[in-house]
Amino acid sequence: MCGIIGIISNQDTVSRLLSGLKSLEYRGYDSAGIAVINDRHIHLRRTVGKIDALVETVGAHPLSGSIGIGHSRWATHGGSTIQNAHPHITDQVAIVHNGIIENHRNIRLSLEKKGTSFSSETDSEVIVHLVTGYLNQGLDPEQAAFKTFEQLEGAYAVAVIFRDFDDLMICSRKGSPLTLGLGKAEMFIGSDALSLSPFTHDLVYLEEGDIAVLKRDSYKIYDQNKVLVERPVTKSQISGEGVSKGKYPHFMLKEIYEQPDVIRRIIQKYVKGGVPCVGLDIDWAAVDQVTFVACGTSFYAAQIAQNWFEGVAKMSTRVEVASEFRYRQPPLSNRGVTIVISQSGETADTLAALRYAKSEGQTVIALVNVVESTIARESDYVVPISAGPEIGVASTKAFTAQLLILIFICFDILRSKKKDFPDFAHILKALKVLPLAFEKLLLDRKLLQQISQKLAGNKSIIFLGRGAMFGVALEGALKLKELSYLHAEGAPSGELKHGPIALVDEHTPIIYLMPDDVLVEKNKSNLEEVMARKGQVYLIGGASASIYREKVVHFFEMPDLDAFCAPLLYTLPMQLIAYETALIEGSDVDQPRNLAKSVTVE
Ligand code: G6P
Repeated sequence: MCGIIGIISNQDTVSRLLSGLKSLEYRGYDSAGIAVINDRHIHLRRTVGKIDALVETVGAHPLSGSIGIGHSRWATHGGSTIQNAHPHITDQVAIVHNGIIENHRNIRLSLEKKGTSFSSETDSEVIVHLVTGYLNQGLDPEQAAFKTFEQLEGAYAVAVIFRDFDDLMICSRKGSPLTLGLGKAEMFIGSDALSLSPFTHDLVYLEEGDIAVLKRDSYKIYDQNKVLVERPVTKSQISGEGVSKGKYPHFMLKEIYEQPDVIRRIIQKYVKGGVPCVGLDIDWAAVDQVTFVACGTSFYAAQIAQNWFEGVAKMSTRVEVASEFRYRQPPLSNRGVTIVISQSGETADTLAALRYAKSEGQTVIALVNVVESTIARESDYVVPISAGPEIGVASTKAFTAQLLILIFICFDILRSKKKDFPDFAHILKALKVLPLAFEKLLLDRKLLQQISQKLAGNKSIIFLGRGAMFGVALEGALKLKELSYLHAEGAPSGELKHGPIALVDEHTPIIYLMPDDVLVEKNKSNLEEVMARKGQVYLIGGASASIYREKVVHFFEMPDLDAFCAPLLYTLPMQLIAYETALIEGSDVDQPRNLAKSVTVE
């Protein structure tokens, strides 16, 4: 949440600050700004809205400077206004901040008492006034920044530049990510490796509490105890390529269409000699419980996987929303394994949950898409989900990739426990045809558009499913609400009678997921109950659901596929329905309101 970029160079930095911000836009797009130093003046441009608006303003009112910082904001404290946009400046100092300064009220009060006036409602503005105050007391920039960071409680990644020092940038991170990029007579900072990839591949990941003092030609890092330390220089594997929309109008659509290739790639990577193997050096037979922690879409992947881990691998499994788990702090056995699932690898709550699990002696496995992420770096094992860069805020291909890897881990457990699983060959066969099944289904996009035409404009939509399909129903409801802003909720079909059925009438659209699995007869009974109350049913199901073809508003027949792999395939219509409905509703598909792709504040 919030993207930070900074450059010290011999050349102008403005266009690179703007392009860096563009690639960080997924972290928040409420407002944006840049500040550069030129001629012992701080020059500032800020706009409400997306980076394009900032680019326009900079075009109309150009500025230049060989040192600068930029920020793309996801609002926490204070609305989306120019005053609340970063950078925040005084006559001597400019800062950008990602995170939340939890003690900002006290700091603000004490500064106000001393005569400081604030121009924004943000928590971040205290930082610029603290640094300026210390400079005015005669401290040098390094001392002023250090003294400021000492006072900050909460989470932050901060970068500070100084009017009178055009070869100095001081940054610190605690709780929010920040990476240094080492150039030739240039230094960079960015919230992620992707934003730095067009400039340099030599990266230094700051650790918790680190403070970095950067000049064009050199840098030094102090750890949280103010001791000078060396941090390893990593060669980033990320290329700036692959992040364009190509022929697609939206990243989300492109990412939906990439899924067959993603599945092929993962199978090629993890299935060796016909046997899926993630290759974790873990004795699963000795593990007493698996705990999944995740947020959002990644949480639903865990919820689906629980069906496989328990039902097939017979592994005791719990699934936890990271933000609850981290504060509830349940006791965990040291024979247990925690699997954290995170596309970005930066989600603040998931990271905190990981740290808690480690403190309890758990072995931690990270399933991440961004391998150069904090969660990956802090875990005992990293399994890259290899979905490729995902830019659309609503996760699509990463979810499918997570599910596939989780199936493979399930097989690892079975093998390690030496458990026989008669359907193994059958499932493998199904996995092999999965990319083709995705491709075929993508050809039916027009049929799903018809469903979206009918869903658009409705007040509330219910998604129902059982077993692993309950997780798919939850993901379908999440996708629809986050993209089209229509209220949607997912429920287990068996739970219908305990509440959701009260909402069912002739105006209520119900997306009912009914694969040909062991629960199909139970599903039929629940569907009858919905139809008896005139619910408007959109049935997405296998051949056995086709008996309802004439009775429901819309029947979308899914290809025949092994029930075990069905959750992956049934996710595709959920994604396309959400996408098409959002288009009809006229919302911003790739950057839906109030959301961000990487949630680095709790
Ligand atoms: C945000 C994103 C979701 C994502 C969730 C968890 O809410 O908008 O798409 O599922 O964060 O993110 P993670 O990167 O940890 O998977």
